[in-house]
Formats: sequence, structure tokens, C-alpha cells
Amino acid sequence: MRRNIVHMGAGSLSYEIREIVAVARQISAAGQEITWENIGDPVQKGEKVEPWMREVIHDLVDRNESWAYCDSAGVPATREFLASHVNARPGGVQITSDDIMFFNGLGDAVAKVYGFLRREARILGPSPAYSTHSSAEAAHSGYNHVTYNLDPYNGWMPDVDDIRNKVKYNDSIAGILVLSPDNPTGAVYSRELVEEIAAIAREHKLFMITDEIYVHIVYNGSPRMHLSEWIGDVPALAMRGISKEYPWPGSRCGWLEVLNKNKDENFATYVNSLLAAKRLEVSSTTLPQMSIPRIMGDPRYQAHLARREELFSTRADEAMKAFESCDEVITNKPGGAFYFTVMFKPGVLNDRQTLPIENTAIRSKIEGLVKNVAPDKRFVYYLMGATGIVVVPLTGFQSTHDGFRMTLLESDDAKRAWIFKTLRESIAAYINS
Ligand SMILES: Cc1ncc(COP(=O)(O)O)c(C=O)c1O
Repeated sequence: MRRNIVHMGAGSLSYEIREIVAVARQISAAGQEITWENIGDPVQKGEKVEPWMREVIHDLVDRNESWAYCDSAGVPATREFLASHVNARPGGVQITSDDIMFFNGLGDAVAKVYGFLRREARILGPSPAYSTHSSAEAAHSGYNHVTYNLDPYNGWMPDVDDIRNKVKYNDSIAGILVLSPDNPTGAVYSRELVEEIAAIAREHKLFMITDEIYVHIVYNGSPRMHLSEWIGDVPALAMRGISKEYPWPGSRCGWLEVLNKNKDENFATYVNSLLAAKRLEVSSTTLPQMSIPRIMGDPRYQAHLARREELFSTRADEAMKAFESCDEVITNKPGGAFYFTVMFKPGVLNDRQTLPIENTAIRSKIEGLVKNVAPDKRFVYYLMGATGIVVVPLTGFQSTHDGFRMTLLESDDAKRAWIFKTLRESIAAYINS
């Protein structure tokens, strides 16, 4: 090319959760049956969408307006409905429907939120990090994502001193990102903790972003807690969606709640630029949005959420039990979402460990792949070659800790038990190889 046409952030765009799929397909082609434990898609893992929700969608299909464009920011009646839900939270920030902005899934919202930030303005996010956020933030800035530590020895809770120091000594930080419930750790933060983070944002005139896509999937005594309830007067964006809740990941339907927009002129201008960017896109996804008041406003919805919370709570117990006698790893019981992270204790992994793989084509493929990779990725590749189970290495989540993330989504009880057992046995075999 006459000019270099590659964006300076292009190298930062990596998504291990999907990238591992390309490798797994090759292993599958060589004859290994694959068990997908990498993607957080409940439907792909066998969850059946509730019949009454299907009925709502059937009914919408028969309405002509479902097929039309809608306002770029979203269907007005749905934005009204969601704003009224925000306003009903006790003691929370009050908003109007103009403060609700729809996107083509939160993946799209994440790309816009970071993409339209001024290049020098950085967002401090957690490590381990959910790659959609960390990659988008890094790509926007052209530098590595700036992170604060989640502490595996303290239930994966954020290290608030680390946040305070990073904010204090790096004045390019303009905002703080919080994921609660968190992906990949499943940790849910207490109100005291998030209020401490909000106080740092307030003191240093930062804004806050929360990703609340799992906010209605909490268990193990964790509260369902929304940003609008604890943020006070700090300008902030809460990200919500239906991908995990209905669940309907293929709907590509997520939204931002803009809180305290007018508390800061610069923040308001930035939010307006997001809306202007949305207008260029003509419309957002009409039918899934039209379903929101009908489904979330249905009396059966709360029972649906409660049933799923119970389900994932039981599976979190199973996961903990599966690894309880495994001294080489650290596990923390999730309080929300549907992921489980297994961390290897420091020094447990090396670059000589293997798992037996009978199929020679697969074995040589794996041996070729594990040259110069992170120790946990080496484990993940051997696991895939030997058992067909595909998990995501923890270092793929911008983490300095070795480990892997699996899901709690397998809906076949016998298969889920096999996954836990096989993982546990594979760890022992690998470490002792
Ligand atoms: C924390 C988090 N945010 C956002 C997303 C993407 O959501 P959506 O399907 O709305 O793009 C995911 C998907 O796994 C996620 O885990």
C-alpha cells in the first residue's frame, strides 16, 4: 500500500475465546470429538428457551412494525419501559428514556464506548479481563490495556489499593470499568466495595462503566445490584443486554443506561457523540427490543430468573466439589454469571508436561502448537488433543496467572459430570507427567 492502512491498535484485537475455535476445528477434523467449554452461549449448550417467551416472539413476528427500522437509539416504548425500571430502584439515580441507548449487542456497545473516546483517555479495567473490553480499550489507545488486579487469594475481589494507585499516578485514566458479576471469574462484589471504587472515581473526576450483562444471574448469597443504586452523582454508563438473561445471544440486542449525564459537560458531550455515531447506523434491532417490555414485564419473568439462579448455583457447587481435593489449583466459588475459573498455583506448570494422545495426527498437531506458548495455553492444547474439551487459557484474559475458564452451561447432567471429572483427572495426569 502507498500508505500504511493498518490501524495502530490492530495488533490488540484478540479474542482467545473464539480464536481457540479455529484450532479445535482442526483437531475435530483429525477425529477428536469436541466438547465446547469456551463460549458463554447457554442455547448452544442445550438450554431450552421458555415456551412462553417463544410465544411472545411468535406474536411479534406477525406484527408488521417488527419488520421496520426503529429509532437509532432504540424503540421508544422499550426505552420508556427500561427507564421506568431504573427509576423504580430504591434510592437510585433517576433517568429518562433518552438515557437508554440500544446497540447491536453489548459487543457493539463496547466497540462504540471505547472507539469514540479520545485516544489519550484511558479506561482502567480488571485483570483477568473479558477480552471484548480489554481488546477494544487497547485498540482505541494503541497501547496495552491498563488494568487493576483481581485477587485470586481473596475470592477474585478487586484490589482497591491498586485501583487507587493507578488512578493517582496515571492521569490519562479517565474512567474505571467494573464487571460484576465478572467474566471470567464469576465474582460478585459487595456494595461497600463498589462504593469505594465509586468514591475514587468521584475524587478524581472520572466516569465509571459497569458491564451488567450477568446482573440477573446471581446466587450464593450475592445481591442483584445495579450501578444506578450505588453510583451516587458520578457520571456513568451501565451496560445491559438480553443475550444471557432470556437467553438470546443471537438477538444482538444490548443497551446503555446513561447515568448522571448532565453532572459533567465533557461527559455529556461524549455521550452525545455516541448517539451521533448510532444515528449513522440508521436503526437498531427492532424485534428483540419490542420483546423486552413483553418478556421482562411478564409476571413469569422473575420466576424464570430465580429458576436459573438456582440452577447455576447448584452447578457452581458441583464445580467446587470436583476440584476440592486438587491441591495444585485455586478455585473460588462463583457468585454469579456462569463461568468457573481454575487457577494453577505458581510453579505448578512447566514446558515439559504432556497428556497422552493416541491419535498420531492430533498428537503431532498439538506438539507443533505448544512451542513458545504460555504454560496454561500448553495445558489447554494438550487437554483439547487428549480429551476434546475446549476451555480458554486464563492468560488469554489479560492475566498474569495461569489457569483456564470453563462454563457451568452444559445442560446434560451426565456430560457435565464427565467434563468435571475429566478436567480433574487431566490436571493430575498433566502435572504428574
Ligand atoms: C461480560 C460480557 N459482556 C458482554 C458480552 C457480549 O454480550 P452481547 O451478546 O450482548 O454482545 C459478553 C459475552 O459473553 C460478556 O461475557
